[in-house]
Amino acid sequence: MGKTIGILTAGGDSPGLNAAIRAVGKSAIWSYGMRVVGFKDGFRGLMENRTIWLDSDALSGILTVGGTILGTSRDKPHRMPIGGQELDMTGVIVENYHKHQLDALVCLGGGGTHKNAYRLLKAGLNIVTLPKTIDNDVAKTDISFGFDTAMSIATEAIDRLHSTAHSHHRIIVVEIMGHNSGWLSLGAGLAGGADVILIPEIPYQIEHVAEAIRQRSRGGKGFSIVAVAEGSMSVDTARALKATRKAVKQAKRSKDNKAYKEAQKELKELEARHTGNTLRLTHELERLTTLESRLTILGHLQRGGTPTPYDRLLATRLGTACTQCINEGIGGVMIAARGEKAVPVPLEKVAGKCKVVPPDHPWVLTARDLGLCLGDC
Ligand code: F6P
Repeated sequence: MGKTIGILTAGGDSPGLNAAIRAVGKSAIWSYGMRVVGFKDGFRGLMENRTIWLDSDALSGILTVGGTILGTSRDKPHRMPIGGQELDMTGVIVENYHKHQLDALVCLGGGGTHKNAYRLLKAGLNIVTLPKTIDNDVAKTDISFGFDTAMSIATEAIDRLHSTAHSHHRIIVVEIMGHNSGWLSLGAGLAGGADVILIPEIPYQIEHVAEAIRQRSRGGKGFSIVAVAEGSMSVDTARALKATRKAVKQAKRSKDNKAYKEAQKELKELEARHTGNTLRLTHELERLTTLESRLTILGHLQRGGTPTPYDRLLATRLGTACTQCINEGIGGVMIAARGEKAVPVPLEKVAGKCKVVPPDHPWVLTARDLGLCLGDC
């Protein structure tokens, strides 16, 4: 009898997930005579053994559907929220994996999912992952599915926000998803013609932003579009976060439990204060420039609806390459997009890493060549 593979989707939902599920399932069934069992709601469903057989009927008509037919969660195998506690349920997950006599478990997810998948690999399971996130910050792959669709949505939003900006001579700040990386804001900001783009990788000085807007105003452009990644931060915040993270690391190394807990608490408070600061930025820019300012937070719109053709094709390519690897006995890998190819990359090279925007990335250089303000000068 053919192999049996399990599949789950974990972390934030993303356009293209169903296209990937479909590609893994259809190629597994039709090319390799495999059986495919889907686990509901990420690692939680695997722990609770909640399943759905993914046969041809279940896989039909889902290519263009947003979200994930399997459901998802951010629950972690080793810290599963149960009854108000966080319990290590790795053992139960390993048991369920063997109960279904799986030959491999396919995990579709972003950075957090890759960390959890790698833990299960080290617990002895055969794992293959696919890179999914609208943030595009999974390491060792050119691109993750979901990113192209989210960039299209954010770009269209910026296009539309130009109407009110130039009609009312306003600053329109648009917050775009991306806590740890600025790919989405940088890409959509460039594609949408934003005048200022702020990303987590380039801490900003608000005076530089205000001066850039005032300069535009003096040049007759009474409006500005400011694309801001939700994880962007001022130079001062970045400095404080860096120092606090260093203190946490030092306290951990010195095994000073009290100092470690205090530093961790301070870091959590700092991070909490730092998120959602886009409204404060909007008000500050109005004060500094005297131009009316308004904020639009795109939020989960960027993850909604049908995937673009690019994301459908990318998810399908990676999905079929995934089952080909499993059929050939290749495991412990992420299927990475490398140009037009899909190549297996050892999970230990991906887990725990985040692909951030390098300061000399062509998109950054393009923004500077256009004279856009990135907040640092
Ligand atoms: O990781 C993808 C992402 O969309 C981030 O860009 C965003 O900060 C986060 O998920 C939102 O998480 P949730 O959907 O759990 O609110």
